Amino acid sequence: MNQASLHRLLASDKLDNPEKANLNELFDLRLSTNHPIIQNLFLSLYPEATDPDSFQYLMKLLPELFKKRSKNHKIQDLRRLKDANWYQSEKMVGMQLYVDRFNKDLKGLETKIPYLEKLGVNLIHIMPVTTRPKGENDGGYAVNSYTRVDKKYGTKSDMLNLAKKLQSKNMHLMMDFVVNHTSDEFPWAKKAMAGDKKYQDYYYTYPDRQLPDEFENSLPEVFPRTSPGNYTFNKKMNKWVMTVFNDYQWDLNYTNPLVFMDMLTNLIDLANLGVDVIRFDALAFLWKKMGTNSQNLPEAHSLITLFRMCLQVVAPGVVLLAEAIVSPRNIIKYFGEGINKGNECEIAYNATLMALLWNSIATKKTHLLYKNLLNIPGKPSEGTWINYIRCHDDIGLGFEDRYIYEVGWDAVAHRKFLLDYFGQKLDWSPAMGQIFMYNPKNGDGRITGSAASLLGLEKGLAQNNQELIKMSVDKILMLHAIILSYGGIPMIYAGDEIGMLNDYSYLKNSDLKEDSRWANRPKQDWKTVSGLDKIDTPQNQIFHSLKRLIKIRKNTPVFADKNNLVLHPNPNPHLFKFERMNNSEKDVLVICNFDEKIHMIEVGTLDSMGYVSESKLKDLVSGKNIILKSGLLEINPYQIFWLRKS
Ligand code: GLC
Repeated sequence: MNQASLHRLLASDKLDNPEKANLNELFDLRLSTNHPIIQNLFLSLYPEATDPDSFQYLMKLLPELFKKRSKNHKIQDLRRLKDANWYQSEKMVGMQLYVDRFNKDLKGLETKIPYLEKLGVNLIHIMPVTTRPKGENDGGYAVNSYTRVDKKYGTKSDMLNLAKKLQSKNMHLMMDFVVNHTSDEFPWAKKAMAGDKKYQDYYYTYPDRQLPDEFENSLPEVFPRTSPGNYTFNKKMNKWVMTVFNDYQWDLNYTNPLVFMDMLTNLIDLANLGVDVIRFDALAFLWKKMGTNSQNLPEAHSLITLFRMCLQVVAPGVVLLAEAIVSPRNIIKYFGEGINKGNECEIAYNATLMALLWNSIATKKTHLLYKNLLNIPGKPSEGTWINYIRCHDDIGLGFEDRYIYEVGWDAVAHRKFLLDYFGQKLDWSPAMGQIFMYNPKNGDGRITGSAASLLGLEKGLAQNNQELIKMSVDKILMLHAIILSYGGIPMIYAGDEIGMLNDYSYLKNSDLKEDSRWANRPKQDWKTVSGLDKIDTPQNQIFHSLKRLIKIRKNTPVFADKNNLVLHPNPNPHLFKFERMNNSEKDVLVICNFDEKIHMIEVGTLDSMGYVSESKLKDLVSGKNIILKSGLLEINPYQIFWLRKS
């Protein structure tokens, strides 16, 4: 049982009537329940010898933070606590968007809620909207503040109104907590630059290159092309400062307990805007240690669990999403391990599935996908995935080399093939992607591009090649149908639902032109949306089919994530097969074909699994019964079945 379940149990008699509950008493109960864990974690990171008063300070801080939370949110917390693991429900469908690129500002976004509802989206991830430096700012991931809304997006009251509106419609809001770094214009950074020693210790600052050089020996580079190295010299301070991402993003020094406590305050302030899911940005990087790559360190996990345990005391209805785009074995650890199992983040990005789906698109084969997925240890029952085919960032090839070798390919050559396939180096490839942050030192590179452009729609339309267009629409739908049925929250990137192509306008903007991720962040095309119900276009087919698939997902309880996924590897290397099983519900078998040719599956196999009834198969995707005439089921190129037991 994780701590959330314990809180649910302890407060069970109050949860039916949260309006009448004694909220302070419940806070005390949660604090005393989490106290030993908080103390343990805190003292393991910040031994008393370093600062004997800091734990007491934290104990005083938590009730103060609780006082800041509104009554409405406190009641909402109790509702969420009762509605156990709501984030695992089949009803959840997410969309990620940049407010300005979607519809100008926060008010503009609010007016488009009906569009989101029409598609079936009930969770929106809005990208950073707080103040940031004027020029380059990494799409707002260089924060000047954690809660002050940038004028460009509107005001704080617009933000609160949006959150309220979403709450009234039973929709959910997700926002980022940029926990690893601030911008160099953040008040702490400014004070550090002005010579304030206290705030210089909020970051990793060094008088000379000695320690940075030693660190560099084992630190990889995140943005090797635009921001090589991990340190930047700051003239005002006359010191080096750690900047793992861009040179204007200063890494916070979490070995300093004051940083943890101030950031906890920022976290709660963010939650108080009415956020349901907080995305812990770049959390793998939170702890740095000489001689390591300073990613995924045990101390980073303790720190995240500490944030989680404190947040749970103050705002138990808010859940955490781990943005750990790291190797499959490392991702799973963000759900919490050992005694902290189930107590770290409730949700994590399924970057493994995402990256390997693209690998399967390029190779038309699924054996590497299976190999990786079958080798990941199970996640705790309280955790779930964000399943996505792409997001606002690049697509990294973060899977392990050894499995590439095991399926019989050379890892170096294979990775190069993937970059060439998506990066327009192979004439026969339908993909119109770009290469992101190619590092000639080691051949590493990542891929950017919108789903439609990567899957051939851009090329198909440019060549007026109907066959290519049809194939790309089928691929777009198949990949989305996989994330809708895999188990977890499917997260669609805004624009992909109408097959939007790459946006090349970033090349004309001097602040953006070095960052090809902007190609996959197109401005929402409301003109296409206005014609959705009028004519038959590839874009309209994508929207209407996706909308239908979402509706089916929401009416299929076995799609809720109850750790009920069974992968079925099969001898045909082009097929991907998995089952969603729940003894009390009707199970669903998902089968899809990653090849450009038709493949068959023996009906006998499906029969023995219980999917054939009266010589028929029931397919939820087409809504039809498949009448079996032969002993083989045909699966068309890029077709997906959701076969239901009946
Ligand atoms: C995360 C964000 C990415 C950003 C980085 C630094 O990975 O998704 O867009 O560049 O963090 O904040």
